[in-house]
Amino acid sequence: MGNSEIVRSERRGAALVLTIDRPKALNALDADTLEALAERFDEARDGGVRALVLTGEGRAFVAGADIESMGRMTPAEAERFSRLGHETLETLESLEVPTIAAVNGFALGGGCELACACDWIYASTKARFGQPEVGLGLIPGFGGTSRLLRRVGIAWAKELVLTGEPLTAAEAHRIGLVNRVFEPEALLDASLAVAEVVVKRGPVAVAAAKRVLQEGQDADVRTAHALEQQAFGLVFASGDRDEGIAAFLDKRDPNFEGV
Ligand code: CAA
Repeated sequence: MGNSEIVRSERRGAALVLTIDRPKALNALDADTLEALAERFDEARDGGVRALVLTGEGRAFVAGADIESMGRMTPAEAERFSRLGHETLETLESLEVPTIAAVNGFALGGGCELACACDWIYASTKARFGQPEVGLGLIPGFGGTSRLLRRVGIAWAKELVLTGEPLTAAEAHRIGLVNRVFEPEALLDASLAVAEVVVKRGPVAVAAAKRVLQEGQDADVRTAHALEQQAFGLVFASGDRDEGIAAFLDKRDPNFEGV
């Protein structure tokens, strides 16, 4: 199966919608699917793309790393597989444009980890989140001990990772893993609607703010403040700053060019 078939890509205005399309395996992540995702993430570097929505076909977002292929892996192969997963999710996390996980169903193991590599998560009422790896005698391998912890705090991360028990969308919302919950049929439209809001903002500023939030999260607070000061200064060199302030003073909508 060609990579383009494993992950479908569709432009909706300035938003790129990526759909993982391996429903027979509940969109489980094997090496081919990870590589297909990485190729699709590169499409979001096209200047015309200003937001990315990631979702899954069928009743799963992603039901985890592919269990069948993991049954045959040696320890060295498993470490390489984990590295491939991390590299793919880092590619996603480092995109300049905002990324939204539209979690339509199961987001388990690698699926929950993939969602956590997006900027935020919207979920359908049917979504289920969890890190079930310990039930397979494994541990999370694509960031479940790092990104999830930063999202929900150490105690919830430990409960999820050490019990392997799933959360409903409402529970995931309550602990801050999910920003908003929608009826299944409204999820994609809601995700596209928030993407449309972001798309209208100044792209240089959106990218700078995203980078400072991301890098500042792991820095000490003084370094985070310094990063913000530098980036605040840098956006003053952009045409978007000229346009944004001129539009406000002229009482009209801005027309940002992203430069
Ligand atoms: N890998 C490979 N195939 C998977 C899969 C996975 N993670 N999850 C589901 N599938 C396959 C099933 O084998 C099944 O295939 P067949 O029809 O050929 O038998 C098909 O998808 C449908 O699944 P079920 O019949 O099991 O569907 P269900 O509705 O009864 O259960 C489920 C749904 C609760 C999600 C169940 O499929 C399940 O528990 N899946 C595994 C979840 C899991 O443990 N994920 C973590 C994987 S480890 C990991 O992700 C490590 C990491 O961090 C990198």
